Amino acid sequence: MLEFDGLRKSYGTNLVLDDVSFAVAPGQMYGFCGANGAGKTTTMRIALGLARADAGQVRWAGRTVDLEVRRRIGYMPEERGLYPKMPAAEQLEYFARLHGMNAAAAKKSAAELLDGMGLGERSKDALEKLSLGNQQRVQLAAALVSNPDVLILDEPFSGLDPTGVDALAGNLAERRSRGVPVLFSSHQLDLVERLCDAVGILAGGKMVASGTVDQLREREADRQLRVVIPGCDGGWARELDFAHVASDRDGEVLLQLDDPSRDQDVLSAAMAAGSVAQFGWRQPTLVEIFREAVAA
Ligand SMILES: Nc1ncnc2c1ncn2[C@@H]1O[C@H](COP(=O)(O)OP(=O)(O)OP(=O)(O)O)[C@@H](O)[C@H]1O
Ligand SMILES: [Mg+2]
Repeated sequence: MLEFDGLRKSYGTNLVLDDVSFAVAPGQMYGFCGANGAGKTTTMRIALGLARADAGQVRWAGRTVDLEVRRRIGYMPEERGLYPKMPAAEQLEYFARLHGMNAAAAKKSAAELLDGMGLGERSKDALEKLSLGNQQRVQLAAALVSNPDVLILDEPFSGLDPTGVDALAGNLAERRSRGVPVLFSSHQLDLVERLCDAVGILAGGKMVASGTVDQLREREADRQLRVVIPGCDGGWARELDFAHVASDRDGEVLLQLDDPSRDQDVLSAAMAAGSVAQFGWRQPTLVEIFREAVAA
């Protein structure tokens, strides 16, 4: 387990983290979400010892993260940080050596990763000669090259094209399947929804939601029933005294029920009104859960 336990951090009078606790299990992909300035980067930097918490601690396998543990963490910093003039492969080998790999293993790992990221041909090019997205791919490779036991990646998907997203997602999934806990921050909630086993949403210095995407969806109080009757006005739904019509457009009606068990009564009314093409509870998207959690 990678455990964040009661983290508290202020910058001057700005209380950024106010008792933040969550855990990432081995083999879990954890999406770390929150508005700009919510404190995601600060949390990750504390784990890496790059910022000091006022209270609380970060543990890996029960042990407070120290220098030795940090060597086993693959970290991709928000500010990035590679050498512009050094060839891609060379810097990856350098990072791998820093994390304790021998020269041969470092060379092999670097070459494999660059190939996997679609940069095999560019491995001898200086970083500054690569496009922004390709520099990002090298930056990711730098976090992964030493085959770390833990991954902490600050917005790893930003700037990648769809092929890059797929390559990275595949690579992370493979590491997860080997038991590596993967924590990454992202504003791309569709990606988080698709890739992550668990999600945490940081707002106002606190974890306002944390759990599997399904758990977060179940917690959503105002689930909506969606009924589609092509070509039919939603007047039938407005007549129901136990339901509230949230939207009515082009034959599609979204309803909130005071008592969810009355969904079959809605279906009966809908069938009396016309030919029902679709009927079911609508799952809120992560974007909706996020808006709700951040607004609360
Ligand atoms: N070194 C620092 N000195 C002063 N304030 C800081 C420092 N680092 C971060 N902060 C403040 O801490 C808060 C959280 O910043 P942080 O970078 O952790 O947010 P974030 O969730 O990563 O945001 P983003 O999505 O924009 O990357 C912000 O209000 C920021 O201004
Ligand atoms: Mg950040």
